[in-house]
Amino acid sequence: MKDLLSIRDLTASEMDGLFGLAADLKAQHRKGIAHPLLLGKTLGMIFEKPSLRTRVTFEVGIAQLGGHAIYLAPADIQVGKRETVKDVAKNLERWVDGIVARTFTHETVEELARHAAIPVINGLSDLTHPCQILADLFTLQEKCGTLHGVKVAYIGDGNNVCHSWLYGAARTGIELHVACPKGYEPDGDVVAASRQEAEASGGHIALLNDARAAAERADVLYTDVWTSMGQESEAAKRRLDFQGFQVDAALVRLAKPNALVMHCLPAHRGEEITDEVLDGPHSIVYDEAENRLHVQKAILATLLGRQSAG
Ligand code: CP
Ligand code: NVA
Repeated sequence: MKDLLSIRDLTASEMDGLFGLAADLKAQHRKGIAHPLLLGKTLGMIFEKPSLRTRVTFEVGIAQLGGHAIYLAPADIQVGKRETVKDVAKNLERWVDGIVARTFTHETVEELARHAAIPVINGLSDLTHPCQILADLFTLQEKCGTLHGVKVAYIGDGNNVCHSWLYGAARTGIELHVACPKGYEPDGDVVAASRQEAEASGGHIALLNDARAAAERADVLYTDVWTSMGQESEAAKRRLDFQGFQVDAALVRLAKPNALVMHCLPAHRGEEITDEVLDGPHSIVYDEAENRLHVQKAILATLLGRQSAG
């Protein structure tokens, strides 16, 4: 594995190894023990879209590992407009040790990975958001002790976050019930590939158009914004189409009594989730956000560390 473009790039045992390292790094960080695994390494961070969590956790993460990040804002390099994706990759590989890229099309992050000799990490594309769901799975493992057989209800848009949940559930044996309004279902190829793999891992994937049915007896309720970055012109229509898909107190009551509520954030409070639920006792959204740091440090140490060893 040179790159991390999708959860599918990791085998189940590589994922276990990553989570073990993330747990160690988290414990060391909490005890104040230095862990400069990437001393002097540099990370180039290409962002075509805004970010709070991804940018800050990668910048803080590489700094805690002894390295340094360079943030390249949308207007700075204009991938594919000012120069080709290939030329961006061929230049960056001469100066930095790894690339994080947040792009509109998934092809851009794939093309960067194809042309760069250094590791490329997908920091969100229109198709997937692997770092987020790896942090979510790590968080769930911390809270539940296991992932196998945990019932997760994903309520909302069949978007990038949903796609990575499908891949992640299939790889870990999670029972995933996805509920989307008609017309907003996840990509058919992603669903088919995930269903096939879930058979082998002992997981199960169900697609529904009913949020209440998905939430019934769930261990986890997960949601994301109805309008993703790049879809802003559809926001008004989506607000209408997603009626009945809000994670509110009534939906939480259908889940198990100790159910966990998750959200990748940013949240559009009052749309896909109410304040009461986001700020309530079931919510673990800030634990997820914290774990972005620890899991991504494990990703960086694995990919960039291995590169120098090789
Ligand atoms: N969840 C997440 O990726 O947040 P940002 O868009 O703020 O990076
Ligand atoms: N689906 C959202 C996730 C943000 C972290 C988006 O792409 O905007």
